[in-house]
Amino acid sequence: MRKALVIGNWKQNGSIASVKALADSVVSSCLDESVDVAVCPAALHLPVVAPLLGDAIALGAQDVSEYSGGAYTGQISAAMLVETGCQYVLVGHSERRALCAESSVAVGVKAKSALGSGLTPVVCVGETLDERKANQTEAVIFEQLDGFFSALGSDELTQCVIAYEPVWAIGSGLSASAEQAGEVHAAIRTKLESYAAGSGAVIRILYGGSVKPGNAAEIFAQPDVDGGLIGGAALDAADFSAIVSAASGSGE
Ligand code: 13P
Repeated sequence: MRKALVIGNWKQNGSIASVKALADSVVSSCLDESVDVAVCPAALHLPVVAPLLGDAIALGAQDVSEYSGGAYTGQISAAMLVETGCQYVLVGHSERRALCAESSVAVGVKAKSALGSGLTPVVCVGETLDERKANQTEAVIFEQLDGFFSALGSDELTQCVIAYEPVWAIGSGLSASAEQAGEVHAAIRTKLESYAAGSGAVIRILYGGSVKPGNAAEIFAQPDVDGGLIGGAALDAADFSAIVSAASGSGE
């Protein structure tokens, strides 16, 4: 029912030449039809990468404006992303929450704006190490989900993807254990179900944070983990394709 999804978040990396080469390698190495695959280059690289991806790999953006258009200097609207070939957009990545002070409600408004143009928002949530140590993991994530959901209707919720990315695991080489990921994913699924009956069964929940070829299969084997949001390892086509293969067959 939930097809596995693996997304590469290229963050603020690459040049026009290097992202073209990476896109070509991803297209030729990620051929597994049982997994949905997407890559999210930097905004300026979207139109460079879009024509290289073909039908097998989807394009995603790393952020979207809350506003549909007008005097918002520096912003990029959902309609602009769609016109450039995007199908997905990340919203609420912890780097943006921390660096750009994005609130959970703003993340919800961005998700709504994305959905209004036909994009699938990938809504990122996750706790810091201090919050985990203080046993606040669930409370923090539920607050992030509450804020996001307050901007949406139940019908819209089911069209979103959620990504659980513990902040302490991002770029640290210290992934959550499969058990830790599984526990949080199960809690998120129950929470989604409380917003809209039936949503817990259909919404894909990805894990992100130091996913590598060596730990991907174990994490993806957790019943509530439907794939991954991959940072560093997505910049290496061989690693990324190994992670995509690890997701094969993990969907329900
Ligand atoms: P890493 O895979 O580099 O830990 O990054 C995860 C991430 O932030 C993806 O959005």
